[in-house]
Formats: sequence, C-alpha cells, structure tokens
Amino acid sequence: MRFTGKSVLVTGATRGIGAACARAFLAEGARVAINGRTDTSVAVAMARYEGNANAIPAPGDVATVAGCDAAVAAALAAFGGLDILVNNAGVFFRGTIEDTDEKAWDAVMNANVKSVQFCTRAALPALRVARGTIVNIASESGLNGYPGTTAYCASKGAVVNLTRSMAMELAPDVRVNALCPGVVETDMARAGFAIDGDEDAGMREQADAYPLKRIGTVAETAAAVLFLASHEAGFINGVALPMEGGATAGQW
Ligand SMILES: NC(=O)c1ccc[n+]([C@@H]2O[C@H](COP(=O)([O-])OP(=O)(O)OC[C@H]3O[C@@H](n4cnc5c(N)ncnc54)[C@H](OP(=O)(O)O)[C@@H]3O)[C@@H](O)[C@H]2O)c1
Repeated sequence: MRFTGKSVLVTGATRGIGAACARAFLAEGARVAINGRTDTSVAVAMARYEGNANAIPAPGDVATVAGCDAAVAAALAAFGGLDILVNNAGVFFRGTIEDTDEKAWDAVMNANVKSVQFCTRAALPALRVARGTIVNIASESGLNGYPGTTAYCASKGAVVNLTRSMAMELAPDVRVNALCPGVVETDMARAGFAIDGDEDAGMREQADAYPLKRIGTVAETAAAVLFLASHEAGFINGVALPMEGGATAGQW
C-alpha cells in the first residue's frame, strides 16, 4: 500500500481518467477527495464508494477561482492537510481557429489552465507543509500541434510549461510533474473523436494511428499518475511524461 496515510485531491474524479486515479489511490490506502463540476455529478460518483470512509466529496467548478477554493477547502476540512494534488479536470474542444470564438476559447482555457493555477494556489500552503507533490494531466496535444483543435492544444501546451515553471518555483518543497497521455478511452475521447456520430469507428481510427495500434486505458493512465506521485519518483521533477504508445517518438 504505497499511499497509506496520504491525502489526495483529484479534480475531475467523477468519470474517466480522474475516476480511475481516485480508485487507484483508494486501493493503495490513500484518502481521496473526489471533485467534479457539480454537487450532483459528485454525488453520483460518491455512490460508487458507499461504505468507504476514505472517499470524500469535494465538488466545485474548477474553471472558476471560487470552485477551486471550494474543492481544496473540502479536502482540507476532511483531511486536515493535503499530500497530493492531481489537476486532472479538463474539457476537449474541437474547432479550427475560425470556429473558436471568445466564449469557446475562455471555456477551454479556464477549465484546462486556470484550474491548474488556482487549485495549486489554494492547495499550496498544505502541500508545502506536507512536502507534497502535484501531477498535472496535460496531453500529447500539449507536445504536438494538431489541426482543428488549436485551443485545446494551446491549453495543454500551457499546462506543460506551467508544470515546468511550478516545478522550478516550488522546489524543494513540492515536486510538480505532468503526464501527457495520447488518446485514452473515456467519455471525452469517445465523443471528441466520433466519426459522423459513430464513437466506435472514431476509437478504431485513433487506435490505428498509434504505433502500438491501440489507444490507452484509464487504468494505465492512473498507474502512471500514481508513479509520478509516489516516493519512487522522488527525483523526478518538472517533466512532461509522454504516455502515448510511442506516438511522439518518431516525430522531429
Ligand atoms: N481521454 C483522453 O484521450 C485524454 C487524452 C489526453 C489528456 N486528457 C486529459 O485528461 C483529463 C481527463 O479527461 P477524461 O478523458 O477523463 O475526461 P472526461 O471523461 O470527459 O471526464 C472529465 C472529468 O473532468 C470533470 N470536469 C470537467 N470540467 C470541470 C470543471 N470545470 N470543474 C470540475 N470538474 C470538471 C468532469 O466532471 P463532471 O462529471 O462534473 O462534468 C469529469 O469528472 C482532461 O484534462 C483531459 O484533457 C484526456
């Protein structure tokens, strides 16, 4: 049990990658605060942990400063401190530059970048006391440019360099790393890559584009997050770790 006695806040833990991270941390002995956008989405997620006192609700729209503060406050009220922050909440946006209006741009940037800044800011006093760690979920889209998803790519590129800058600023008290997954099968990916509404066809097309001829799983993604958060990764700081079946390995 690598995380016994550790307190964790996972943003966007109601579904997908965040939910897998929450399950994995709980299985390894941690206490986990489950964040999602609304009281309802968090209540639905919490029903899966009925009887497990180590899972507590921490709702809050982390695209807003007030939501970040509320989520962190719920974790601190329950745990009395915080060892690990996983900034996972995010949204996908498919659209060309012409398609991306101010509202769409702000929605992507607020959910994907502002959330990382302000959850970190709220959690920092507790993380410093704990000499804790942060894992930011960026994306392969933060390492490469892709046509038709410019705002999303910009937001994830920002998370990559925010991670590096945070790692420099917060050392030696708090380690900060980013994970850059390729396509992982979740609600976001299925909807985002559907071909004429056919989600399975979209997933097959994505799988075919990867050197390993498949997409990632939420369990693999959670395993990488737990590694970056673990004692074993104690000398890893400021990296943006690709987890994309080799997709970026042959690019230059
Ligand atoms: N799936 C992929 O292929 C992939 C690849 C690379 C990176 N990522 C990144 O991984 C992260 C998780 O993605 P996913 O695929 O697991 O997405 P998902 O299945 O759509 O789940 C998104 C999660 O984020 C939460 N969320 C979204 N906006 C929020 C907000 N403003 N405040 C609080 N919670 C919010 C959702 O909560 P509600 O249920 O309350 O809406 C949900 O728990 C994202 O940052 C995404 O960009 C995903």
